[in-house]
Amino acid sequence: MNIIKQGDSLGLLDEVENGTVQTIYFDPPFNTQRVYRLNPDNEIGFSDIWKSHQSYIDFIEPLVIKCKNKLALGGSFFFHICAEQMLIPQMVCDRHFKRVQPIFWKKSRSKNNVKTKLGAAVDVIFWCSNAKKPKFNMVYQELDSYYAEHSYKNEDERGNYALGHIVYTATQKTSNEDRLYAFTHDGITYKPEAGWRLSKEKLDELVADNRIHFPKKEGANPYKKIYKHESKGKPCMDLWDDVHSIAQGNERRLYPTEKPEKLIERIIEMSSDEGDIVLDPVAGSGTTGVVAKNMNRDFILFDINPDAIKIAKERIFT
Ligand SMILES: C[S@@+](CC[C@H](N)C(=O)[O-])C[C@H]1O[C@@H](n2cnc3c(N)ncnc32)[C@H](O)[C@@H]1O
Repeated sequence: MNIIKQGDSLGLLDEVENGTVQTIYFDPPFNTQRVYRLNPDNEIGFSDIWKSHQSYIDFIEPLVIKCKNKLALGGSFFFHICAEQMLIPQMVCDRHFKRVQPIFWKKSRSKNNVKTKLGAAVDVIFWCSNAKKPKFNMVYQELDSYYAEHSYKNEDERGNYALGHIVYTATQKTSNEDRLYAFTHDGITYKPEAGWRLSKEKLDELVADNRIHFPKKEGANPYKKIYKHESKGKPCMDLWDDVHSIAQGNERRLYPTEKPEKLIERIIEMSSDEGDIVLDPVAGSGTTGVVAKNMNRDFILFDINPDAIKIAKERIFT
């Protein structure tokens, strides 16, 4: 079920069944008081001029409420905004979602052409949900170069490895009695006071596979070996500084304010599975649809601008 429709989302959202959508990416006009055009000789674009902050709130809030109602159990809503205009979206998201986590996308990394104020390097994407545990698939970023260089100091026949904690510290002490066991290896017994982070069975398995680093110093803790060649990267944090904006990457810009596919890929991957429905009610050039299709998700795209819908259809179906 893939849908691309031109029109005002406020009405079109009524055609989507409540409780059915896993991920919503919402990248509306940002309240910047500008008109966006693809380039000076091209009319393709949209207006982002508002009479007042209240008129902007009156535009986004009914859309946010309708989107919230479309979410399936465990579904997520992502509100994308530039840092300078983040206050109103944060207030609106807080009103309608129990859980609102900002993700900071560092979209600009190199030059700064702005000379009259500080250049804008960051957009904020509010990850919102009303679920106790929204669906979440771990996504990964490149390892920090400092960490990659300095942490894989140990070596065995498999290769270089870093040390991963397998015992709790005093402040984290476990309440699980099963994790307070003693473990003997080469005649030395380890019984961490705050307990183990893994079960006895799992520890036995890792020791048998030579994946535990036992300390040379008496009284020190054992660690899990984290091999460099097996690392998927760093589990993503809330600062995304590894995704280029369209201006700096290799993608050709077809629409002003078009977002990079890699950014939407990460959002879709972390919040949905294959076969889930992804909705973008302000789809612009259809980046969300392109990515959803590549990732075997169904998609629903709306945009009020006929030029945007034409570009989206061309990108997705040709
Ligand atoms: C920032 S752009 C989206 C860019 C998009 N993420 C992309 O990658 O191309 C915002 C879009 O919201 C659309 N829009 C504004 N008001 C709308 C409304 N009431 N219903 C549907 N679309 C709307 C505009 O036409 C514009 O294309």
